[in-house]
Amino acid sequence: MSKKPANQPHPAKPNGITDRETLRERARRNIEDGAITESYSADREEVIKLLNDALATEYVCVLRYYRHYYMAKGMLADAVKAEFLEHAHQEQDHAGKLAERIVQLGGEPDFNPDTLTARSHAEYKEGSDLRDMVRENLVAERIAIDSYREMINFIGDRDTTTKRILEDILAQEEEHADEFADLLEGWIGE
Ligand SMILES: [Fe+2]
Ligand SMILES: [Fe+2]
Repeated sequence: MSKKPANQPHPAKPNGITDRETLRERARRNIEDGAITESYSADREEVIKLLNDALATEYVCVLRYYRHYYMAKGMLADAVKAEFLEHAHQEQDHAGKLAERIVQLGGEPDFNPDTLTARSHAEYKEGSDLRDMVRENLVAERIAIDSYREMINFIGDRDTTTKRILEDILAQEEEHADEFADLLEGWIGE
């Protein structure tokens, strides 16, 4: 990451629109910052840290879903297994989107497995039986929903690209939670 004073003041304009010459001149400064320009007004270090925490959460969820996919047994196992596998793939996809955005912001995605569970919001719970697995996944999805919503509120409109990525992920976590809530509601037997 280059050393530049954050958020240099822009020329004041009544409508907030910078004139063409200033835009051109600013774009040439700190060109090594790539997509991050002087009008980026969020706390970049803080956003990268939040995205890395979310990345750790996604990977713990990927691992938990794979564990459940391979361990699922019982009458309903086939249908539920398919759900676990699909979620594992989708959480992996979320992790990819987060890692990509971290790099765009000039940070480094932290994939260190030694610290994954300590940094994750959600837990790695193995679950005792199929129903317990579903319950644990519902809990983890609810944790993810809350943490994504908080991140979105924190970032607000200061980084609309990150916000949009987080909103897309949040919508999918809500679908995940809803699917498990439906499963638990209609559960027959142990
Ligand atoms: Fe996810
Ligand atoms: Fe999810």
